[in-house]
Amino acid sequence: MIVQKTAPPEQQPATFEFSAENQEKAKAIIARYPQGRQASAIMPLFDLAQRQHDGWLPTAAMDYVAKMLDVPRMRAYEVATFYSMYNLAPIGKHLIRVCTTTPCELRGSAEVVETCKAALGVGLNETTADGLFTLREAECLGACVNAPVVWIGDDYYEDVDTDSMRKIVEALRAGNTPPPGSQKGRQTSAPIGGPTTLKEQTV
Ligand code: FES
Repeated sequence: MIVQKTAPPEQQPATFEFSAENQEKAKAIIARYPQGRQASAIMPLFDLAQRQHDGWLPTAAMDYVAKMLDVPRMRAYEVATFYSMYNLAPIGKHLIRVCTTTPCELRGSAEVVETCKAALGVGLNETTADGLFTLREAECLGACVNAPVVWIGDDYYEDVDTDSMRKIVEALRAGNTPPPGSQKGRQTSAPIGGPTTLKEQTV
C-alpha cells in the first residue's frame, strides 16, 4: 500500500493560483462537464496545478481548486490523498515508480527496485541529493501483460529488467528521454515473439 504524507508546513507555499495560461485551460476543462457537475473537474484541475507547481500539489492548490469548483476543502483533500498520481510533497525531476504488485513481482520487479536503489543511491520514497530522481513503489499500473512495469513522468516502461532499468536511469541522468514502451521490442501487448493470430492486415 502506498502511503503519502503532505509536505510539512515549512515546505507549503502560503498561496497558489493558476497562471494566466492555466486559468484559460481550467475554464476549458470545467466547460467539459454538464451544468451542476463541475465538481467532476477536480481531478484534471489537480493535474494542471501539479504540473504548474514542480510536479507536486501543495495544500494551497487543493484549497484553490476546491474554491474554484465550489466544493468543500475536505472533498478536495479526500481526492488528492486517495489517488497516487498526485504528489503531496516535493519530488525529484524524475519520479520513478516501480510496480510491485503480484504480476510484476512474479516477473522480477523486486530486482528492478534493487537496481534503481543501487543506480540512484537512495531507498524507496527518497530523493537523490541532486534533486534529479525520486524512487517509489506503485500498485498495479494496469499494464500487467508487459510486466514488470515502471512509470516515469507520463510514460510507461514495460518488460523492464535490471539491464534496461540501468540504461533508463543513465539516459535520464544524461538529460535524454529513453524510448518508453516495451524494453524488449514487444509489439504493444502481443506475445514476446510477435503476433500469432491476425498477422495480416486486410481492409
Ligand atoms: S501488476 Fe504491475 S502493472 Fe499490473
